[in-house]
Amino acid sequence: MCLILCICRYSIWPYTVLKKMGVPGPMPIPCFGNFLQYRKGLAQFDEECRKCYGGTWGIYEGRSPMLMFTDPEIVKTILVKEFYTNFTNRRNFKMSGILDEALTVVEDDTWKRIRSVLSPTFSTGKLKEMVPIIKHYTNILVEHLRQRESQSLEIKRAFGSYSMDVIASTAFSTQVDSLNNENDPFIENINKIMKFSLFSPIILLIFLFPVMVPVLRFFKISLFPSSILHFFNSNFQNMKKNRSKGQHLLWKLWTPSKDDCFHLGITDNEIQAQAIIFILAGTETTANTLSYVAYNLAVHPDIQSKLQEEIDNAFPSKREYCDCLRRPSVRPSVLPCNSSANCGRCYKRQELGGLHLPRGMIIGVPLFALHREPSIWPEPEEFRPERFTKEAKEDRNPYTYLPFGAGPRNCIGMRFALMHMKMGLVALIQEFNIRTTPETEVGVVTKVGLDKVTMDQKYNKI
Ligand code: HEM
Repeated sequence: MCLILCICRYSIWPYTVLKKMGVPGPMPIPCFGNFLQYRKGLAQFDEECRKCYGGTWGIYEGRSPMLMFTDPEIVKTILVKEFYTNFTNRRNFKMSGILDEALTVVEDDTWKRIRSVLSPTFSTGKLKEMVPIIKHYTNILVEHLRQRESQSLEIKRAFGSYSMDVIASTAFSTQVDSLNNENDPFIENINKIMKFSLFSPIILLIFLFPVMVPVLRFFKISLFPSSILHFFNSNFQNMKKNRSKGQHLLWKLWTPSKDDCFHLGITDNEIQAQAIIFILAGTETTANTLSYVAYNLAVHPDIQSKLQEEIDNAFPSKREYCDCLRRPSVRPSVLPCNSSANCGRCYKRQELGGLHLPRGMIIGVPLFALHREPSIWPEPEEFRPERFTKEAKEDRNPYTYLPFGAGPRNCIGMRFALMHMKMGLVALIQEFNIRTTPETEVGVVTKVGLDKVTMDQKYNKI
C-alpha cells in the first residue's frame, strides 16, 4: 500500500506546479508529462500550444515543469537584459560524453571562456579564408545537380551533403565528399550522431527518472555510442599532427605563437567537442534553410526570376533581394532543429511576465511558434520576401524574428552559415531554374526539405 502511494506521489505530484502558478497548458500524463506530444514534432507542438494558450504557457517534460514565452519584450529580457544575471545557461543533461564540453551546453564561466576563445574564429578575416573551401564544394554540388538535370530529386539530400562537406572540411580539415561517397567512415559516423532520437531509451530514462543521471554517468553511459566518439578522437589526433597544413576554422587554436593567445584557455578535449558541435549545430540547420529556399523558389517562379535577374545583373554589389529571400526561408528552418525552443534555467527566484519563477525553473523561447505569430506575421505560412525589406524590418520589434537567437548566447556560427548558404544559393541559381515536379507536395511545410524539385539548366547558361 505504502509503495503504491509512493509511486502515485512520484508520478503525479510534480504536476501541480504550473497550476499553482496560474499558467495554462496542455494536460500532462503521469510520469511522461507532455513528452509524448513531442511525437508530432517539437515545433508543431509549440505552435499548437501558442494557438491554444497565447504568448505564455507551461508544459511538463517528464516530471520537469517548463515555461514558454513568445512575448517579444519577455524574450528580450531572457536573451539580453537578464542573460548574465539569470538566464546564462541552456539545457544540459550532462550525458553527452565528450560533447558535455560543447559550447551549446557548457555553463557560466566555462561558457564565457570558451565562447571568447572561439569568437575570433568567425571574424571577417577568418571567414574570408574559408571562401576557397566553400567554393570547392559549391562546384561539386553544381556538378552533382547537373548530372541529375531534369530529374525529380529530394533536394535536402544534396544540400545536406553540401553542408556537411563544407562544415566538416572547415571544422575538421577533413576532405570529405559525401555527395559522391556516402560510405566514407567520417560521413557514416556523423550520420550516426545525427540520427540521435528524442525518443531513445536513454532520453526517456532521463526524463522519467532524472535521479538516474549520476548513475548513468558513473557507468560512462552517454547519449552517443563511445565507438563514434573514439572515431572522432583519432581523427583529431591526425588533425592536430597536420595542423600546420590546416586552413580549417579551429586550427589556430592549436597553433601557439607569441602574438597569438588563442591557445590559452582551451583544452584539446574542448576543441574536439567544438568541432563536433559545429557539425551538429550547423549541418541540418543550413541544409534545411537551403532546401526551403529551393522549394519556395520552385513554387514561386516569379520570385525566382527576380532573384536570378538580381544575381545575374548586379551580383555581387547588390544582394538585397537575395537577403530578403533567404530570411523567410530561414524561419521555418528552425522547425526541425533539435530544439524548437532555446531553453535555460533561471538562476534565482525572480519575476518574469507577471509570474514568480522559482529558482531552477526551465524557461523556453519557442522560436518556431514566435515566427508564426499571426499578429506579427499575417498569414505566416506564406512566402513573402517583402516582409524583410529594410523598411519592413525597421517597423518591427527586433525580438520577433530570431532564427539565430539573440544576445550574448546567439548563434556563434551565424555569419559563417549565412556566407555558406548564400554561396550555395548563388551558385545554384546562376546555373539552374528550380522547378516543381508532379511529386512536389506544395504547401506541406512540415516535411522540410523532403520536397521533390527538379533543376533545369538556365537557357542562357548552356
Ligand atoms: C541556418 C543555420 C543556423 C541556424 C538557424 C542556427 C540557429 C541557432 C540558434 C537558434 C542557436 C541558439 C541560440 C541560443 O541558445 O540562444 C544557435 C546556437 C549555436 N549555433 Fe547555430 N544556427 C545555424 C548554423 C550554425 C553553424 C553553421 C554553426 C557552426 C559552424 C553553428 C553553431 C552554433 C553553436 C556552437 C551554438 C551555441 C552558441 C552558444 O551557446 O554560445 N550554428 N544556433
